[in-house]
Amino acid sequence: MSIQWFPGHMTAAKKKIEEALEINDLVIEILDARIPGASTNPMIESIRNQRQRPHLKVLNKADLADDKITQEWISFYNQQPKTLCIAISAKHASEVKKILPACAKIAPHRGTAIKPLRMLIMGVPNVGKSTIVNSLKNKKIAKTGNEPAITKSLQRIELNNQMILTDSPGMMWPKIDNALDGFLLAASHTIGINAYDEIDTALVLYDILKMSYAELLIKKYKLALPLPNDESFLCAIAEYRGFKIKGGELDIHKAAVTFLGDYRQGVLGKVSLESPSSRRQSNLKNKS
Ligand code: G4P
Repeated sequence: MSIQWFPGHMTAAKKKIEEALEINDLVIEILDARIPGASTNPMIESIRNQRQRPHLKVLNKADLADDKITQEWISFYNQQPKTLCIAISAKHASEVKKILPACAKIAPHRGTAIKPLRMLIMGVPNVGKSTIVNSLKNKKIAKTGNEPAITKSLQRIELNNQMILTDSPGMMWPKIDNALDGFLLAASHTIGINAYDEIDTALVLYDILKMSYAELLIKKYKLALPLPNDESFLCAIAEYRGFKIKGGELDIHKAAVTFLGDYRQGVLGKVSLESPSSRRQSNLKNKS
């Protein structure tokens, strides 16, 4: 099964973003530190490349991601032209404060009262963009919430007399070419709940985590080696947590939802679902 999700208002949003890029000096792209490749919107990438704007990639939710792999992503992105990459957790205002100096660094020709620095902030739904915008402004402007795609129109925010931020809606793209990306985005709660199957998504997540983070799974769900196969894994969670449906059968669906929730909230520990090298392999596999 592959996952497709593109609410109608996003077509209009794309057009507005193209227009906004004309008048902005740089793009701040918020990515999910656990899935930086999958949370990169190819539409944003192509609009940004057309306009040749400098680019700050912010790996957000770094508190949930594997620190070693986050460092690999930072080195990887910092090798790209006109790009600077930093990792933060928007849960900490002190980390969000790193964003504006990083922007000033990549667009040193702007940032005065006469020539204010104009920044367009973008990202897929639920990546933490509203949390970041609120923190940058230091009061609640953007709506936050864990249901994807709440912000619907562009919003101009004067941070001070030298910096202007344009907030854009959390944006997906019409077709997710790489099927694995669909699952990574669904697991990380970027895609609306009606567009994916929770059991399928949980099983893909399990396949990835058992390769690199088996010890975390063993500890959290009291498993033993060798790790169970897919179906038995969800049964093991259901059994351990006492999830039953009428008639005493194990509730696999509830187990899948619980497992996804544990990953999303960082209950399992700090994990990353892709690295620059696994990304390269997945892209190659997808092309062949
Ligand atoms: P969006 O605008 O990109 O759609 O995302 P938003 O800021 O609404 O954030 C989506 C969810 O992600 C929120 O959780 C928010 O708190 C959480 N979040 C944002 N940044 C970070 C981060 O760096 N680390 C962690 N761990 N979580 C982050 P929520 O479930 O709506 O509720 P709550 O956490 O605010 O209670």
